[in-house]
Amino acid sequence: MRPFPNLTVVEHPLIQHKLALLRSADTSKKLFRELVEEITLLMGYEVTHDLALEAVEIETPLETTHGMMVSGKKLTLIPVLRAGLGMVEGMLKLVPSARVGHVGLYREHDSLKPVSYYFKIPRDPELRDFIVLDPMLATGGSAAMAVSSLKSSGAEQVRLVCLVAAPEGVQHLLETHPDVHIFTAALDRELNEHGYILPGLGDAGDRLFGTR
Ligand code: PRP
Ligand code: URA
Repeated sequence: MRPFPNLTVVEHPLIQHKLALLRSADTSKKLFRELVEEITLLMGYEVTHDLALEAVEIETPLETTHGMMVSGKKLTLIPVLRAGLGMVEGMLKLVPSARVGHVGLYREHDSLKPVSYYFKIPRDPELRDFIVLDPMLATGGSAAMAVSSLKSSGAEQVRLVCLVAAPEGVQHLLETHPDVHIFTAALDRELNEHGYILPGLGDAGDRLFGTR
């Protein structure tokens, strides 16, 4: 498969191990939730690899020295409801001071088109870097709508973190928002006729929350 310029597949062995457990239909709801959080935390290391740093002066118990601390725009996490909620705690463990906005979308059953029902983000979007969280990138319609809503509200910098992506969704994001970089734990084969990712992991929201 040709590489996508907007995609990073994070292939760390621990992520791949946990992803294999996540895919299994035998995995309990409790373990599924824990795995989503843990994989997101591990992916966060790569997602934040280019954060700006500034030199600071520090007093150690022995002398004055210089260190580096994260500077630049403040990070804001945007889980796409519902399933993106499962990724919030993992990312907050790495960036505990991040704000959390919410974008509510669901995929209409027959058309597979996203329907928006909620949108709340911080008031100063132009001063922030946004990280959209959604475990599944299938047709890409939901992610593209989430990014469009953020940009319409003034967001300039957006990246997307998912756990499983379909080539169709990555291509759709490339065409609609080529500036948005996507991080995923896996690039799967294809979508089935119902818009589910194959091999995938099923319906992420249903598996996280136990509701349909
Ligand atoms: C799932 C998933 C994404 C979307 C991906 O949400 O969490 O948001 O589908 O599909 P797409 O790339 O084809 O748009 P769903 O619509 O099932 O809503 P839910 O999380 O509330 O169940
Ligand atoms: N949403 C999911 O939760 N799973 C899929 O495979 C596709 C969309």
